[in-house]
Amino acid sequence: MIDFKQEIANTISKVIEINANELKEYIEIPKDTKNGDYAFPCFRLAKELKKAPPVIAQEIKEKIEIDTNYIEKVEIAGGYLNFYVPKMKLAKEVLGEIAKQEQYGASDIGKGKNIVIDYSAPNIAKPFHIGHLRSTVIGAALYKIYKYLGYNVIGINHLGDYGTQFGKLIEGYRLWGNEYDIDKNPIEELTKIYVRINELCKKDENVLQACRDNFKKLEDGDEYCVTLWKKFRELSLQEFQKVYDLLGSEFDSWNGEAFYSDKMPEVIDILEKTGKLVESQGAMIIDLEEQGINTPCIIKKTNGSTTYATRDLAAILYRARTYDFDKALYVTSYEQVLHFKQVFEVAKLLGLDEKYTKGLEHVSFGMVLLPTGKMSTREGNIVKLEDLLQESMTRAKEIIEEKNPSLPNKEEISKKVGIGAIIFNDLANSRVKDEIFDWNQILNFQGETGPYIQYTYVRTQSVLEKAGIEKDELKIENVKVETLQDSYSQNIIKLLYNFNEILQQVTEKNEPSILSRYLIELAKAFSVFYNENKIMVEETDVRDSRLYLTYAVGKVLKMGAELLGMEMPAKM
Ligand code: ARG
Repeated sequence: MIDFKQEIANTISKVIEINANELKEYIEIPKDTKNGDYAFPCFRLAKELKKAPPVIAQEIKEKIEIDTNYIEKVEIAGGYLNFYVPKMKLAKEVLGEIAKQEQYGASDIGKGKNIVIDYSAPNIAKPFHIGHLRSTVIGAALYKIYKYLGYNVIGINHLGDYGTQFGKLIEGYRLWGNEYDIDKNPIEELTKIYVRINELCKKDENVLQACRDNFKKLEDGDEYCVTLWKKFRELSLQEFQKVYDLLGSEFDSWNGEAFYSDKMPEVIDILEKTGKLVESQGAMIIDLEEQGINTPCIIKKTNGSTTYATRDLAAILYRARTYDFDKALYVTSYEQVLHFKQVFEVAKLLGLDEKYTKGLEHVSFGMVLLPTGKMSTREGNIVKLEDLLQESMTRAKEIIEEKNPSLPNKEEISKKVGIGAIIFNDLANSRVKDEIFDWNQILNFQGETGPYIQYTYVRTQSVLEKAGIEKDELKIENVKVETLQDSYSQNIIKLLYNFNEILQQVTEKNEPSILSRYLIELAKAFSVFYNENKIMVEETDVRDSRLYLTYAVGKVLKMGAELLGMEMPAKM
């Protein structure tokens, strides 16, 4: 497809001494169509050229040679140069490309690059809480989008299957195991044991010591401890899998923290050789004061056991060697900002190529705030994710039952709508923002929600169906772009054109909400188009072109939503 931005950058680069690729990065897509299709801000050049931005804009405008194939006109607005691309050409390009490509918007920009995404990562024997839901959903969306852009992506579920808490659990189970039915209700029962043993530890120093010893034994491969640990892991995974099945989550690797237990000695060895691993109050630490981090990174605790950070360091070493990653993303809540700062800093001491340490990135996200009372369970305020997803499906079903009682396959549709609503809500806003979980909002078919995107998609399909059009009857040859000059159609065409660019922006910022916002905009643009333009008009040219545009919107909405992890119902 013609890259208009590139063409504009090329044009400008001929008259100023900055290369086109750099210029291309400056070019913006104006929010308001009154400012053209692309805008070049001259502010950045002001310092270097020692001239006021409007003067620079004027000079560039006078000097550049315009190729009317790519640029229709240029206007100055303050310090900006606003470019207009030829509308009909753009429309032909976009619709032609959508007709041609099964995977419209895909590219091979990521070819040869390896992206490791560490996401979900719940903790064994603990509830799969809502923070992990966010990690799972954000991680899965990034996973799909990177893939779509041609990257080789490795999804890792770095399970919390190791740590001192297992020493406690083992002790608790040893003492009271027969009182709890962990086979039936693993997470709930193990949580109870965990709470109880913690209480006892607070009162009895000897029990605490026994727990610590258990953990050490576990690291050393003691049979009783290992067998129990395996059982806890297995049972927990079975329960987590129910959530993954509902969300459709997949992973390429399930190497959790325990996987690194035999890989930590090497890390400690390397760190020792740097001379930076020092003793502090009985623990082994790396001081990071000089790097501006006030809390040191603990590598070994007083009792000699390793830490969450040590395992992450071992994982970096392993992933660099195994996957030769260009980027390694860690999707967790912002509570772990300090942890990753420390780990990424210490990773620089591991002797790895800079490529790897530069590729490490913490993709953090905000909390989910629950309107109190609404979602608490009998035990307290821990929400079981499986219940949450089930509830969403039930609520979706009630709405559908009310709106469209005669719909076939209500069960399947409610699943797509209910799960889609949760996924979209999670990705709807900039990830660092805290998220408010409000049922009325999430499932509002008219709001900026997942169901709204699905509903709009379904509408495009029913327009086509009512027109009696089968997919293969829809012919790009019948489209007359001249009939799509109205602003409603034009708005859609521009959005469709930007799809690939939007996906690239998602990967640049690791921000799926850029795609969510885009889908909302596209859905809204279609609603306006649909309300303002009659589709089934007499003139076949107009009708065929509008139908094609409708088809194109449906195709991109579906593709985009699927990249976020949602499924599209055919009807709803
Ligand atoms: N299990 C951790 C938690 O629940 C998240 C792990 C994230 N990944 C990592 N490599 N540290 O907080």
